[in-house]
Amino acid sequence: MDRRKFLNNLSVTAVASIAGAATLSGKADALEEAMEASLEEKYRRAKPGHCFVDGRPPRDPNDKRPYYQHNEPLLPKMPEAPTLMDFYQLRFPTNHVTQSARLAMKNGSSEKVILACLMHDIGLNIMGTDHGYWAAQLVRPYVDEEVSWAIEKHQALRFFPDLEAGYEYPVKYIEYFGEDYVPEPYLKKEHDRAKNHKYYGSSREITVHDVYAFDPDLQVDVEIFTDIIGRNFKQPKEGLGFDGSPTAHMWRSIIWPNNFL
Ligand SMILES: [Fe+2]
Ligand SMILES: [Fe+2]
Repeated sequence: MDRRKFLNNLSVTAVASIAGAATLSGKADALEEAMEASLEEKYRRAKPGHCFVDGRPPRDPNDKRPYYQHNEPLLPKMPEAPTLMDFYQLRFPTNHVTQSARLAMKNGSSEKVILACLMHDIGLNIMGTDHGYWAAQLVRPYVDEEVSWAIEKHQALRFFPDLEAGYEYPVKYIEYFGEDYVPEPYLKKEHDRAKNHKYYGSSREITVHDVYAFDPDLQVDVEIFTDIIGRNFKQPKEGLGFDGSPTAHMWRSIIWPNNFL
């Protein structure tokens, strides 16, 4: 630890509590507490948002490691060769995506579209910005081109109404981004290019089901999609993250979201 930097960054409360301690050992205790807090802060910053869990079990007092490499005590351990289903059950927040896939199923969508709905937001487990692109990239080695294409483009299409397809600009977006928000030009270009593509309809279906998939009272179990996943997702025998695919590192980042290195 850079001591000077650490001391310069100490909070006012920490400085006061160190200065206020009557004895030398009291000062040492207060300093240790401040160091611990500073490490925890660093630790928190390393966490990606969607695997974040609040609270932390108390540490073993003998464990002086500032980081838990490959072992985040707050997350369930993944099997050695994890399947897509393991990711849904042990890592992804699932209810929104399972609700959207269930709607697609109810409305008679193809299996590819149902799978695309099931996976459309899993990029959020890595990154919020451009989450459609992250999700599409993540699954591309394992699915039909139509599925990854539809997932990627749903991000841009969400900002543009298509009344013929039954999709209006989401009221939620006015709430989230303000009435005067105008989607960035790259999104407009993506939308315009996608409009004439052979898979436009599949991506548009994701957006239609997306809007109605936020019911807080409805729990949709991912297991109802087991057969569709089995037929449409090429599960590698080594497990996702360990098959040497171009996106294996992205799956590993979800398995161990808090590794320092
Ligand atoms: Fe999305
Ligand atoms: Fe969504």
